[in-house]
Amino acid sequence: MSTTAAGVKTEKETGTLEVRDTRTGATYEMPILPRGTEGDVAVRGMDLRQIKVESGEFGTMSYDPAFMNTASCMSAITYIDGEAGILRYRGYPIEQIAEGSTFLETAWLLRNGELPTRQEYDKWENDIRYHTYVHENIRKFLEGFRYDAHPMSMLCSTVAAMSSFYPDAKDIHDPENRNIQIIRLLAKIPTLAAFAFRHIRGMPFIYPDNDLGYVENFLSMLNRMTEPRYEPRPSFVKALEVLFILHADHEQNASTTAVRAVGSTQVDPFSAIAAGVAALFGPLHGGANEQVLRMIQEIGHVKNVPALIDEVKDGKKRLMGFGHRVYKSYDPRARIVKQLADEVFKETGVDSDLEIALELERIALSDDYFVSRKLYPNVDFYTGLIYRSMGFPTEFFTVLFAVARTAGWLSQWEEMLMDKEQKIARPRQIYIGHGERKYASLL
Ligand code: SDX
Repeated sequence: MSTTAAGVKTEKETGTLEVRDTRTGATYEMPILPRGTEGDVAVRGMDLRQIKVESGEFGTMSYDPAFMNTASCMSAITYIDGEAGILRYRGYPIEQIAEGSTFLETAWLLRNGELPTRQEYDKWENDIRYHTYVHENIRKFLEGFRYDAHPMSMLCSTVAAMSSFYPDAKDIHDPENRNIQIIRLLAKIPTLAAFAFRHIRGMPFIYPDNDLGYVENFLSMLNRMTEPRYEPRPSFVKALEVLFILHADHEQNASTTAVRAVGSTQVDPFSAIAAGVAALFGPLHGGANEQVLRMIQEIGHVKNVPALIDEVKDGKKRLMGFGHRVYKSYDPRARIVKQLADEVFKETGVDSDLEIALELERIALSDDYFVSRKLYPNVDFYTGLIYRSMGFPTEFFTVLFAVARTAGWLSQWEEMLMDKEQKIARPRQIYIGHGERKYASLL
């Protein structure tokens, strides 16, 4: 049995590819890498470089825009089977984790590979409670934003700014140092998110209450008014705990790829995570949950759904919250979120937006345009409706995604650092610009 860089045991070598270059008649051998745990198969891109016409050539590259078919790393953290709609964190099915775990236990599992013992968990939770405060200057930093600044812009800026408060964080090869920075980021990102929320609401910042659990404390910093202690609704705490678990990691998505690429330059983790926040902001990625609600509100009434569907089919619009690069069946997280939505709406009431969402889903799951393109609801489709029913403003939905995904980004960042095959990410290109030409000024 061979062991990959990520420490995953795999089958022995499984053969070679023989590639024949018809330009020269030469044949090349490329070893097929040992299969991953669930059968992933790849060859090394660098093995293409031997294919040349003239010996002095650079060699052949693989051209793969958007990395549609490129394995950028070996990872043992999260496994997704897009056809079967499977998602597992360190081998545990997401359905079981969502049902029985907590976000902090999940964050430990993602990072360490095994579930924590009671002693490990208590210390982990206590360490994180202890580090929830941020430097007071962060307040002044946030107060510089306009009242209508997007909270994702504020979160991205403040996470990046944190690297200036912890200059020792650049010592990324010291395990103890990495550990304290990971604890700081997990502990402080809810505080930064809550401060951004209070700023856009024009309300005074509420400081962490370290007697509360992770989710309760977050809800307290968001919502406490004059009461001495905020009492969150148990159903909202449970809903947010599950939503954080569902959003914690998702293998090599765009924002995780950003974190790994920026982290590969050996920058501090605050700067690498800020890159993840920036990538997540995009409407095709984490920003989709916000766009789903805006789309539903633009539809306005269930009778207008057919018109929207026609616009999507005409290619004028995308059905936000549908489709996925990997899932070509129902996103298993969307199934759990939908069940959660039913529970939350029992308490908050079903509104017309949910009726519109259910009609959109009904049509998309039956209409050949969507079925033929394997466009199923993804994790973002129902989350916006739950967040809205819990009182979060639409522009805050992606911030909630970022708080949760910080656990996955940090785990992936550390795995990248520990992977001896990884080095600074620096892709090549196929140059299609001008050949050499003589400069003559037109001035
Ligand atoms: C997340 O990667 C991850 O794991 C991400 C994520 C995570 O946890 O990190 O799961 C979180 O980002 C979920 C996705 C949220 N985004 C949206 O809901 C935005 C709407 N969906 C898309 O724009 C799209 O589906 C993507 C971006 C999610 C995936 O895009 P792909 O894989 O690049 O697919 P594509 O754009 O090449 O589309 C393939 C075809 C095209 O049709 P044709 O040109 O072949 O005719 O499907 C069509 C697209 O036009 N299509 C859609 C569509 N998504 C794809 N048509 C209408 N509505 C859509 N939503």
